[in-house]
Amino acid sequence: MEENIALEVKGVGRTFSDGTVALQDVSFSIRRGEFAVIAGSNGSGKSVLMSIIAGLDEPTSGTITLNSCQAGLVFQEADSQILGETPEEDIAFGAKNCGLSKEQVKEKVDSALEKTGLVNKREAYARMLSGGEKRRLAVAGILAMDRRLIIFDEPFANLDWPGVKQVCAIMKQLKEEGKTVLVLTHELEKVLALADRFMVLDKGHLVFDGTPADGLKKELEGWGIRNPLLSCPSIEEMIWL
Ligand SMILES: Nc1ncnc2c1ncn2[C@@H]1O[C@H](COP(=O)(O)OP(=O)(O)OP(=O)(O)O)[C@@H](O)[C@H]1O
Ligand SMILES: [Mg+2]
Repeated sequence: MEENIALEVKGVGRTFSDGTVALQDVSFSIRRGEFAVIAGSNGSGKSVLMSIIAGLDEPTSGTITLNSCQAGLVFQEADSQILGETPEEDIAFGAKNCGLSKEQVKEKVDSALEKTGLVNKREAYARMLSGGEKRRLAVAGILAMDRRLIIFDEPFANLDWPGVKQVCAIMKQLKEEGKTVLVLTHELEKVLALADRFMVLDKGHLVFDGTPADGLKKELEGWGIRNPLLSCPSIEEMIWL
């Protein structure tokens, strides 16, 4: 695999034992430093693709290659991601696993709590956080791990307006730091301004792969996606900051 490629998905298919075909012959690669958005309606295969990239599920056919880096993943089901009793402990857990010193871990935890607006929940019982707070916690966890590739599955689900703005600001910063970011979502008006690359999944098929500008000229409604140009005059405005 070429040095400048961060993630390669090659001919990936996934058929479940009940006969559901969730993905069919999906191929794409993401360059290092690229910000890619994959849109798709409910059931189009986004989360199945995420599980396969995460190594939690095996493709029925095809291969996934991550180029010399581990991915940081923010799952759609934020509950499944909580490991610590408190946000502080939860965030530290991932950072400790990256071999950082005690002081470095504390710094990472403080900064991640700050960026996600969870400072006052630092010592709360993590399982009792609201849905939106749990998602912020998942984002805080991957920030503390300092991964070069970060994948977000429906990152805006459950978030209120300040929450969306915080996650958008974090994504913008990750992009500016040169991180590779992949966002799986149907909420294009919140994130497309950051994207260098736009893809669409429909019923398990990759039906579009190109630039946001070219993608918005397509009949997105036919794939169950609302065209964000209906409410935003330009792509630059498709972000909540
Ligand atoms: N374990 C499973 N067994 C059978 N079918 C499954 C399984 N997991 C997912 N599917 C099916 O695979 C398809 C794709 O599901 P997936 O969760 O990837 O959709 P999605 O694009 O993430 O949707 P959403 O926008 O609702 O999150 C759906 O039809 C779903 O019912
Ligand atoms: Mg999903």
